[in-house]
Amino acid sequence: MEIINRRQRMSSVARKIRRDQDRSIGLVPTMGALHEGHLSLVREARRMCDVVVVSVFVNPTQFGPSEDFEHYPRDLTKDTALLTDYNVDYIFAPPMEEMYPKDFSTYVNVGGLSKLLEGETRPGHFRGVATVISILLNTVRPDFAFFGQKDAQQAVIIKRLVRDLAFDTEIVVLPTVREDSGLAISSRNLYLDAEEQESASVIHRALKQAKEAYKKGEHHAGKLANIVRTTIETEPRVRLDYVSIVDAETLDKLDKLDERPILIAVAAYVGKTRLIDNIVVNKAKKDAATSKS
Ligand code: PAJ
Repeated sequence: MEIINRRQRMSSVARKIRRDQDRSIGLVPTMGALHEGHLSLVREARRMCDVVVVSVFVNPTQFGPSEDFEHYPRDLTKDTALLTDYNVDYIFAPPMEEMYPKDFSTYVNVGGLSKLLEGETRPGHFRGVATVISILLNTVRPDFAFFGQKDAQQAVIIKRLVRDLAFDTEIVVLPTVREDSGLAISSRNLYLDAEEQESASVIHRALKQAKEAYKKGEHHAGKLANIVRTTIETEPRVRLDYVSIVDAETLDKLDKLDERPILIAVAAYVGKTRLIDNIVVNKAKKDAATSKS
């Protein structure tokens, strides 16, 4: 395994792999502080691709001014040890100026979708995500790039980005990995103590209850949202920010639910920590994980 810090080196290594060796490349973009969620993406990349690149870069442009960029957990030594165990070929861990050289001035904005849900509380967040992902896809030019359903809106936005700007990469979205309690694994769970983590598991319970109700025939979005809301309210340590019931592909708000896949998305605070989670109901029969965009 090689750790690459320079964009140019990353591009030339990837070019050689594609041209001279005709091997497929899988990219797993991360911000490090790797956990089981990230590792599930790495595992699938390893299964599907000849060469696996994992990027580790805490991307400043996706953090708001009052967010946790400075305090975001960073531990490249530990991440490297984990990725070595997973037989990853390259870690791309560029320093700031390598991704954002002086006078950097080009940003990518996926209109519409970026303003909804998380975009309402985190203006500029998805512009930062779309920009860094564009740089990463252009640097590595992977055949496949892997993302988690945990960040459902991010995955939808990246698929749209790849389609609209004709990136030659297939986006693979994989299921959310959870603690035994149901709590979605997240780097930000490190900010919670054990009791808070236990309390936070109410989020997934609430989503599951809404899914059950849907299956039993409750197709009224407002009523499903209420199930999520009242369940989360039983846990005083958790404060709901929003619950939104939207079309899983367009993120359009829905009132009456029909046959299309529906995303129930939640953001909630536990103390000062903001957590997101979601569940998809009415999933299409075909494996919705992979989509050529
Ligand atoms: P990060 O939060 O490090 O997540 C990297 C990838 O891991 C994302 O695709 C995310 O959806 C996935 N992931 C996180 N927790 C997961 C879980 N519990 N189960 C399954 N997948 C999970 O998301 C980002 O970084 C950044 O926005 C990034 C895409 C790297 C751009 O900077």
